[in-house]
Amino acid sequence: MSSQSEFAPSVLDAVPVMPVVVLDSLEHAVPVARALVAGGLPAIELTLRTPVALEAIRAIASEVPEILVGAGTITTPAQAKEALEAGAQFLVSPGTTRSLLHAMQDTGLPFLPGTATVSEVLAALEAGCSEMKFFPAESSGGTAYLKAIASPVPAARFCPTGGITLASAPSYLALPNVGCVGGSWITPADALAAGDWDRVTRLAAEAAALG
Ligand code: 3PG
Repeated sequence: MSSQSEFAPSVLDAVPVMPVVVLDSLEHAVPVARALVAGGLPAIELTLRTPVALEAIRAIASEVPEILVGAGTITTPAQAKEALEAGAQFLVSPGTTRSLLHAMQDTGLPFLPGTATVSEVLAALEAGCSEMKFFPAESSGGTAYLKAIASPVPAARFCPTGGITLASAPSYLALPNVGCVGGSWITPADALAAGDWDRVTRLAAEAAALG
């Protein structure tokens, strides 16, 4: 089986804050991607939680080439393949089963398998993945938990997400085993619904300044 390090460059080093986006309207895909780029965050994790998500990835991949577009909330092996076919450049899952991990590896894309326990972290490492998502970060122990596992499991690097804010992000980013954090606060539902792309750009710029 291939190891993660043989794939493309690290997703964790692309941006300090990965915008985690839930999109209801396909026509918002390209403007939101452009707003993030304008704010200095050229990466987006488009979650597969809405019917338009795969088409939104396809639109962003073809119309906003300057952004790194990934598919989040991968929960089935089929979704990993669908995301690849839609043009996703990386994959993120909230948790990890063996078949999900194999399906993500089979795409050849960089990916962050979701973990929340030391056993899950060890299983990901055993499978050749040293970079992973830590989810749900705040309710799974937050920075204290990540600090506690840095010494016994030094090989693992994380993108914590779930409950992180602009205010709490710096304490995560200061940890040696954190590459970036993820969060939905940069693209709030009301800003997307209103088409308030200036607000998204402002929120992205605040987050980009944490890097
Ligand atoms: C995720 O999928 O990473 C989370 O839903 C993002 O969590 P947040 O909405 O609390 O930022």
